[in-house]
Amino acid sequence: MNILLIGSGGREHAIAWKLSQNPKIEKIYCAPGNGGTALEKKCQNIKEGSIEELINFAKENKIHMTIVGPEEPLIKGIVDRFNEEGLRIFGPSKKAASLEGSKNFSKEFMKKYGVLTAEYATFNDKDKAMEYLNKCTYPIVIKADGIAGGKGVVICGNLKEAEKVIEDFMVKDIFNGSGKKVIIEEFLEGVEASILSITDGETIIPFISAKDHKKVLDNDKGPNTGGMGVIAPNPFVTDGVMKEFIENILKPTIKGIKEENMEYKGFLFFGLMITRKGIYLLEYNVRLGDPETQGVLPLMESDLYELIEGAYNKNLKNLQIKWNRSHSASVVMVSSGYPGEYIKGFSIEIKKDITGKVFIGGGVLEKGNLKTSGGRVLTLVSLGDSLEEARICSYKDIKKINFENMYYRRDIGLI
Ligand code: AMP
Ligand code: GLY
Repeated sequence: MNILLIGSGGREHAIAWKLSQNPKIEKIYCAPGNGGTALEKKCQNIKEGSIEELINFAKENKIHMTIVGPEEPLIKGIVDRFNEEGLRIFGPSKKAASLEGSKNFSKEFMKKYGVLTAEYATFNDKDKAMEYLNKCTYPIVIKADGIAGGKGVVICGNLKEAEKVIEDFMVKDIFNGSGKKVIIEEFLEGVEASILSITDGETIIPFISAKDHKKVLDNDKGPNTGGMGVIAPNPFVTDGVMKEFIENILKPTIKGIKEENMEYKGFLFFGLMITRKGIYLLEYNVRLGDPETQGVLPLMESDLYELIEGAYNKNLKNLQIKWNRSHSASVVMVSSGYPGEYIKGFSIEIKKDITGKVFIGGGVLEKGNLKTSGGRVLTLVSLGDSLEEARICSYKDIKKINFENMYYRRDIGLI
């Protein structure tokens, strides 16, 4: 079997690594992949290509299944196009991908099906938004409706900050259209949790929980990033929290997917806020998370491809996922300066006696050498019988990795 995997991050390296363990899979073409997939068993990087070029590639190379990593092609409708061509692809339809592609669509969906989420109001008109801001109690959260490269959510401490955000999003149009519509949302206080899952449109099977570390500096200080580290399972997701999540979020979500006739065979990510008032859904992502995937897949005992095939055949209700009983602690190593400006192009050295697994994100293979090519360069994942053991392993191993301008948080997994 040949697989086509779309994407270029650490998440895709982790997916490719996990898929490569399936004995029936011969080759995984990664479009475009990165320096990690270039070196991974069974993997071959190919050109990124447009949707139409990928369709041609899938036909010419007898691709058994295409798996989509990032949200962008999903929101553009890659799944619908592949289906029109009779090609097998794993991911939500364009309509279902709006659960991530439009915050307003997703909030309306949550409200309609009774998924517990923060109160909100939507605005297309700048003056009305400004008027509303005068009546709000602060802090308040402002969100651009469309995708904005992870920068479309701002927590505003006061009216002045909020007015500036509305000005930037709606008038200056800093997201090229994505912020013309905004959601103004109640601020929720609590701890966050990520739950990845797989769905066939009728059943959702949640993965073990994870905890991202979004801020760039220790003790959750500094600006937000794509993720500086992850631990799994998330110690705040107790059995009680999981139960509440299933009742108040997962079940109404699947009901909505069915009633709206969304064609959804793919991964689904729930971004949760655990508060004193209950478990709230902050957002859906219609894909796996990064770096959550790197931290969670190494704990999965089941074969990932069999689950994908099971979901594709609408057979998830008969399947279960087996997890090994250990913990993972993953530290993301970034180019210093990230999420702002940084220099790249430095050699990455990884000593042979490293015990954890390294998933490359922003790294390319140049003449046989790994070089930094992005902000989040790599994720180092270690497993242990306890969270503490896993994090000690990661911080020991990290000394065996080196590149110029390297930076990482020292407190991943310290609760
Ligand atoms: P989102 O893309 O909606 O998940 O937002 C990105 C991040 O903003 C989340 O991971 C939270 O840290 C934060 N956030 C979003 N919505 C809220 C909210 N209603 N209250 C507090 N924090 C939020
Ligand atoms: N780690 C959050 C995300 O992938 O969006």
